Parts: sequence; structure tokens; C-alpha cells
Amino acid sequence: MEGDRKLNWAEEHMAVLKKIGEDFSANKPLKGLKIGMALHVEAKTGILALTLKYGGAEIRLASCNPLSTDDDVVSALELRGIDVYARKGESRDEYYENLHRVLEFEPDIIIDDGGDLTTLLHTQYTHMDIKGGSEETTTGVMRLKIMEKKGILRFPMFDVNDAKMKHLFDNRYGTGQSTIDGIMSATNLCIAGKTVVVAGYGWCGRGIAMRMRGMGADVIITEIDPVKAIEARMDGFRVMPMIKAIQHADMVISATGMKDVVREEHLKVAKNGCLLINAGHFDNEISKTALQNLAVEIKEVRKFVTEYNLGNRKVYLLGDGRLINLVAGQGHPVEIMDMSFSLQALTAEYISKNYENLENRVYNVPECIDNLVAVLKLQTMGIEIDSLTEEQKKYLEEWKEGT
Ligand code: NAD
Ligand code: ADE
Repeated sequence: MEGDRKLNWAEEHMAVLKKIGEDFSANKPLKGLKIGMALHVEAKTGILALTLKYGGAEIRLASCNPLSTDDDVVSALELRGIDVYARKGESRDEYYENLHRVLEFEPDIIIDDGGDLTTLLHTQYTHMDIKGGSEETTTGVMRLKIMEKKGILRFPMFDVNDAKMKHLFDNRYGTGQSTIDGIMSATNLCIAGKTVVVAGYGWCGRGIAMRMRGMGADVIITEIDPVKAIEARMDGFRVMPMIKAIQHADMVISATGMKDVVREEHLKVAKNGCLLINAGHFDNEISKTALQNLAVEIKEVRKFVTEYNLGNRKVYLLGDGRLINLVAGQGHPVEIMDMSFSLQALTAEYISKNYENLENRVYNVPECIDNLVAVLKLQTMGIEIDSLTEEQKKYLEEWKEGT
């Protein structure tokens, strides 16, 4: 069965998570706990769910995006005892119904990606007791921090995104590679020789820009943060506002976590044939309302490619404006998700041991977990590094002498 083969392949290449799974199987640190998850339901996520189950937890899983589910994997996971509520192409109503199925299970711990599950726990399931949870992505953490600031966060949440072993690799190299995977699968078009505009020079944007340049694209960056704009320039990219950049663009890729990054004023001057692509969490970075308002005709010209005829020009929206690496690609590379999901598994274990002493706020992943994942990853990569001598350690305490 295809889903089984995808799970086996992922498990084989998630060496750190595999080690954690072996430890969980032996020690059952999550015994008796229910874990509710809303993540992109594909093979790597499946291995995280199975790892938590090896640790003794009961699992319910829904998707965090209506278009990112791999249906083969859903069937295979169900046969392995994971309750999954997700389908690729689910409607908005089905998407929310599935999140409700996860919460009706009354989880002790939640693992969220983007914040929709957490939001339901603060709007509709306001009396449900949650021991703690973790959040996978930048947009979800942004929402959590707003809740914390407003004083309404009602259980402890861990910010996995900002762990070093997450954003430095997942957001940068993961999104860099998998966004290109998604664009190539959706279009079968060439990247070399194209002018690619990347909106946002944060962790995702810089990964995309770096890899696009490696593929032979001429990359332009748009930013709102002056420091990031200078970084982009000094990394060798042209920087300009979207209104100018889009006039040169064969492709625009948005990776900001902000809404309306490409809007009506930009679409009016976009180059004929421009591909519009989102790699950010929500499908609001490229304004679909503006596209609909300006279009004289809209048609699907290829799977995941919608043509908007704007009268004198045509532009193409990929994957309905949803994050392209999971809609048309296979998500991040397996070895990258090994790090992100090892952090998630160890954070769930940490919550199970420490929830009684936690407050209702946003916590960083403990440094010892971040470092453990780094050490294990290095081991599984077969890389050795130096360590400080005793003399060097003493030197770190010195302030009198420079030599
Ligand atoms: P980040 O905060 O590191 O970077 C976002 C950047 O966008 C910032 O530098 C910010 O200044 C810039 N920005 C904001 N508004 C802008 C605008 N109007 N025009 C141009 N630039 C603007 O965040 P990140 O970690 O790079 O994440 C970006 C988005 O991608 C989030 O929604 C996150 O959840 C999502 N994400 C997606 C994937 C994926 O698999 N596709 C993986 C990780 C994160
Ligand atoms: N696969 C599963 N979850 C993912 C995520 N958040 N980003 C990219 N690929 C993924």
C-alpha cells in the first residue's frame, strides 16, 4: 500500500525521531495521555503521531490546512491505530468539523500548526482543561503571543518554531527546497533565467531566495523591515517595493505571514504570465479578492494552476494561494522534519512531566531539548566536532589578559 511505503521511507530517514521512538516504546512517558494534533497530515507527521503512540499516548489528528493532506498516508495511519480526521481538498466547513473531532476527544496535550486548534479552545471549548501544548509555525506563535499579551491564554504553550533546531533548518532550508519542489510539480516550468520576487526576507524568504538563486533565477526581495532589507542587499539581492518588483516578476513568492502582500494595486501592474505563489501559513498573502475583482475570466489550466485573465494580461495563482510546498509538493524534506518533530515529541514528554509547574504563558523549548536534538542529529549524520580543552574553558572566564 502506497501510504505504508511513504511512512516506512519517512521513518527510515528520520533517524533522531526513530531513536526517540525506541526510548518512548521502552519507557512509555506519555502513558494515559490523550494528544490532539492539527498538523499537515503527510508521512513525516504520521511518524510523529506514531512516535507519540509508542510513548503510550492516544492520538487524534486533523489537518491544519484543507489542501495539505496526503490521503494515502491517512489510510495507512488509520490501519496503524491513529484516528485521523482529514482529507485533501476538504471544504472550510469540513476543515473545522475535523478540528472539532479532535477537541471532542478532550485532549490533555495539543500540538498545533498555525493556531486554529488553539483558537477554538479559546472561543468555543473554553472550559476544556488542557495541560499544555506546542505550536509549530511562525504565524501560530504570533497569534499565541497576542493572546499572551492580552492575558487570555488559558494554558501553557511551547514555541517550537523559535527553537534553534527548528527555524534555522525547517523555515530556511526546508521551505527553500520544498517551495521549489511545489512550484516545479505544479508548473513543470524552468526556474533558470526567470526573475523571481520573494516577499519577506525572514527565515523562509531567505531560504527560498538562496535556493532560487542556486537554480539560476534572478532574485529580487521585498521587505518592510529596514534591517532585513539591508541583509538581503548585502547577500547580493536587489531590494525594492512590491509595486516596482512585480513589474519585473516572472514569479512572486510570498513568505511573510502578513495579509495582502500582493493586492489590487500590484496586480494592475504585474507582468503578463506572472506566477503568484504563497509559502506563508495562510492563503491571505496574495489577495484572492483582488484577483477575482480584476479578472474577466478565471479557469483552471492545470492541476493547482488557476489562470486569471485580467483583460490585457494573464496571471496564474498556484495552489489556490495556499502554501505551495504542501499543496503541490511533498512538504519539507524528511531529514529536516526529523529535527522539527523530534523537538515536538520531546516537548510533549516535557509537558507530561512538568505541566503542574507551568503557567499560562508562551514558553521557549527548554535549551536542553534543543541541544539534545542537535547532538543526536549530528551523530546520525556521522559528523564529529571539537570540544573545548580545560585551558580553553578557563580562558572563557578570563577578563584580565588578552593572550
Ligand atoms: P519571519 O518572521 O522570519 O519572516 C517574515 C518576514 O516577512 C519578516 O522579515 C517581515 O519583516 C517580512 N514582512 C512582513 N510583512 C511584509 C510585507 N508586507 N512585505 C514584505 N515583507 C514583509 O517568518 P518566517 O519564519 O519566515 O515565516 C513566514 C511565514 O511562513 C509564516 O506564515 C510561517 O508560519 C510560514 N511558514 C511556512 C512554512 C512552509 O512550509 N511553507 C514553513 C515555516 C513557516
Ligand atoms: N510537513 C509536515 N508539517 C510540515 C510543515 N509545518 N512544514 C513543511 N512540511 C511539513
